[in-house]
Amino acid sequence: MKITVIYGNNKKGSTYNSVQLLKEKLNEQGKIDYTEIFLPTDLQEFCRGCFNCILDGEELCHNSNYVQPIIDKMLAADGIILASPVYSLDVSAPMKNLLDHLCYLWIPHRSRTEFFSKIGFVLATAAGTGTKRTNKTLKLSLDYLGFKRVYSYGANVAASDWSGVSTKKKEKIESDLANRADKFYKATLNRKKLRYRPKTRVIFLMMKKLIKGYDQANLDRTYWQEQGWFDNKSPFKGRKTDEDN
Ligand SMILES: Cc1cc2nc3c(=O)[nH]c(=O)nc-3n(C[C@H](O)[C@H](O)[C@H](O)COP(=O)(O)O)c2cc1C
Repeated sequence: MKITVIYGNNKKGSTYNSVQLLKEKLNEQGKIDYTEIFLPTDLQEFCRGCFNCILDGEELCHNSNYVQPIIDKMLAADGIILASPVYSLDVSAPMKNLLDHLCYLWIPHRSRTEFFSKIGFVLATAAGTGTKRTNKTLKLSLDYLGFKRVYSYGANVAASDWSGVSTKKKEKIESDLANRADKFYKATLNRKKLRYRPKTRVIFLMMKKLIKGYDQANLDRTYWQEQGWFDNKSPFKGRKTDEDN
């Protein structure tokens, strides 16, 4: 199994160490190859808001030399972990910057069929508050990319660094993550067989109607046409079985 981890900071603090606990639990379930991406090191420029990616093609993004290798690593993975510290009650700026660069891949634009069978895990750490909102931001992005399932975990660590986190708190994080790791691992292992979420289907159908009405030359419309998504094809395929437990 391949898992790509994207960290919203470079620091090996509470966010990084919480992910290591999650990885330890996942490793108990089976062999996993991890690819790790650290922001902002792996994406050093901000989105300029030029709309090149959306309107003219992702290859014209000024930062495509950073962005495309990250997307390739996401596409190559079975599961993706997005981890961010909470800054001002939401994701870190480097993480938000990545999410902005992924917008052109949202279902309302040009999502990839591969994403519809991927499983996500979002993790946030805060001193005291904001993990819920931060995880919502992270999860929304994965939902709009088409992900099949997204699991989440937030930890209030009451510290500015991992060394300041109490042993009791670390034990609690570890035990909380054991259960979630189990679910994430099983879903990732069985990802192709899991039922698609109705919400994803509804977004897809709404966008299909909208995008079909675009100008013939529109890039999103051309892409949907090429995928056959206006005809009988769709990114939803594979056997439908019951939800993972
Ligand atoms: C700029 C900045 C903003 C922060 N904003 C919040 C916040 O809104 N709520 C909160 O509980 N903690 C906040 N914190 C604390 C961090 O979220 C917390 O210490 C986190 O665990 C740090 O993760 P790290 O060790 O991976 O850097 C903030 C920290 C920084 C540096």
